[in-house]
Amino acid sequence: MTGRVLLTGASGQLGQSFCQFWDSAEQDQAWQLVALGRDEFDLTDEQGMLTALETRQPDILLNAAAYTAVDGAETDSATAFQVNASAVDTMARWCQQHAARMIHVSTDFVFDGKATRPYQPEHATAPLGVYGTSKREGEKRLLEALPAATIVRTSWLYSEYGHNFVKTMLRLMREKDSLGIVDDQRGSPTSTHSLARLLHTLVTEECPAGIYHWNDGADISWYAFAQAIQRQGLACGLLHKAIPLHPLTTADYPTPATRPAYSVMDRSKALDLKGVEASNWEVELRRVIDALAMN
Ligand SMILES: NC(=O)c1ccc[n+]([C@@H]2O[C@H](COP(=O)([O-])OP(=O)(O)OC[C@H]3O[C@@H](n4cnc5c(N)ncnc54)[C@H](OP(=O)(O)O)[C@@H]3O)[C@@H](O)[C@H]2O)c1
Repeated sequence: MTGRVLLTGASGQLGQSFCQFWDSAEQDQAWQLVALGRDEFDLTDEQGMLTALETRQPDILLNAAAYTAVDGAETDSATAFQVNASAVDTMARWCQQHAARMIHVSTDFVFDGKATRPYQPEHATAPLGVYGTSKREGEKRLLEALPAATIVRTSWLYSEYGHNFVKTMLRLMREKDSLGIVDDQRGSPTSTHSLARLLHTLVTEECPAGIYHWNDGADISWYAFAQAIQRQGLACGLLHKAIPLHPLTTADYPTPATRPAYSVMDRSKALDLKGVEASNWEVELRRVIDALAMN
């Protein structure tokens, strides 16, 4: 397989990590990556998107762009649906008409969090908030327009780029004398680097279409994740003193959007793909913390 890959959302944390991995990976010179940020590929500008697609003629469209402000979506649902659903539909239709593949990134927030075992890709979706509902609508419209699309749902994404829980925790651990963190929501943190490796395999190998789940293999609460962040931050010198961390309940820390209480997803279908290796959440966290320490 060869061809041109068009990546959207190139300046997001996943987009940057994908470009970084692409540059480091040895691959057939016949593959070409065109990475576009919002200025060149705006998901609220349908005509602009179609013009860019006609100009670039991608063989694979990798959509890493999204409206990701989970709480902001509660009051700006029009933009959330425009970016996460209508734009996905536009891209999917173009791919269908031009025999291009599409790989799309989605979220654990399509689930209601009432499960007690890791979610399978075919588990019924029931989002709790506007963001999750807009992402589910994007999945639905993508599969209607392009049944051979590939969807990768992921959770609790973090990296050395952009805004995320790991960077927020490190900052608060430096600024505060103690910190309370929610302990009754469980999920699986995912480094954008391990996700980028999976996406690279999906792009360059012959992989069956369908819905995949990806994370770094943990089943922990935000509080346990924060404890690991502090431990590793101290070990690599990013933090200089340990502060007390306190478990909170969701009721102690109200947010505009309701989060799923449990959002661990079963990644075994992705692990069955040729060339895909299991990532380990503590190893992945260490890698990002080391990258932050070097900045
Ligand atoms: N973050 C998480 O915890 C998480 C969890 C599960 C799933 N996901 C999914 O993973 C994917 C990647 O997320 P991420 O964490 O990398 O998000 P991110 O850092 O917020 O990046 C999203 C990117 O989308 C771009 N974007 C937003 N609106 C746009 C528009 N109208 N036109 C073009 N680009 C636009 C942003 O552009 P600007 O840089 O210009 O703002 C940004 O570069 C998304 O599909 C997200 O839903 C994320």
